[in-house]
Amino acid sequence: MKDQFEDKIVFITGGARGIGKGTAEVFSERGAKLAVSDLDGEELEKLETEFSSKNIEIITGEVDVTKKDDINKFVERTISEFGKIDVCVPNAGAIGSSGFSDRKNYNDEDWDITYRVNVKGLVNTTDSVKNHMIDRKNGKIVIVSSQGGRKPRGVGDKGRGNVLNPYLVSKAAAIQFTHALAIELGRFNINVNTVCPGRLWTSFWQKIAENHKALNPDFSEMDPYDIFLDQIKSNFPLGRPQEPRDIGNAIAFLASEDANQITGQALNINGGNILD
Ligand SMILES: NC(=O)c1ccc[n+]([C@@H]2O[C@H](COP(=O)([O-])OP(=O)(O)OC[C@H]3O[C@@H](n4cnc5c(N)ncnc54)[C@H](O)[C@@H]3O)[C@@H](O)[C@H]2O)c1
Repeated sequence: MKDQFEDKIVFITGGARGIGKGTAEVFSERGAKLAVSDLDGEELEKLETEFSSKNIEIITGEVDVTKKDDINKFVERTISEFGKIDVCVPNAGAIGSSGFSDRKNYNDEDWDITYRVNVKGLVNTTDSVKNHMIDRKNGKIVIVSSQGGRKPRGVGDKGRGNVLNPYLVSKAAAIQFTHALAIELGRFNINVNTVCPGRLWTSFWQKIAENHKALNPDFSEMDPYDIFLDQIKSNFPLGRPQEPRDIGNAIAFLASEDANQITGQALNINGGNILD
């Protein structure tokens, strides 16, 4: 496995922390060179320093995936510096607009931001790499969606509001987009799949746990991390949360030659929380 991605160029959005960073670690340990972008320039700088100190070849770019020009420029820079893009991982995501953690009900801004980042930002990303992959008749695209895009699920149900609905709908769109893109690009030898993570203690779930604490009287005395963990212990057959590298390992499988005949699929990486 060590050289599985030797000489491969892996392009990751939203990669400064969390799942994107864990995915970058997995690919780099298997020989890949990295082009990592994120909205958060400060966190990206830290990532570049950390990875470069381990002699990993990496370029980073402060990119907002909702801005077509930003993402197009970083794709052009990646191709000019590394010569190609073999694997694209659209991972950047938004859970809701500001104040999300204290609200029970969604507002217009929640719908706007989840659509702009999780749907349009995803489309901007794949649009920006697909012609390059079509020209090369080669490519793997692995989208990060969510198990919540397959089946919305009550969390601790009492007192739960509907503030997550825009997020869940946006992730359903990401799964459907995966199917459509796989059909569009299959004849060019480009595989398109999506991973559906369950629950990880990244900044995403920190915000959700704070939301449950604010809304559900049963949780009001609990630490947000214990709220997160309690629900995993009672609802996940494997009984433990996923880590960013768990998702990265599955993404690497789907981007590898072992998965050459897999396309248009949505793979749960969720400790068995939902089974379909
Ligand atoms: N944490 C979970 O439990 C979980 C579960 C299912 C799916 N996911 C998905 O995994 C992906 C990564 O989330 P995470 O859990 O690592 O959270 P995270 O907050 O640690 O990482 C998300 C990253 O996306 C970046 N980002 C946000 N908006 C952006 C934009 N407009 N342009 C570029 N970058 C942007 C953020 O700066 C951040 O670095 C998301 O798509 C999320 O929906 C997470």
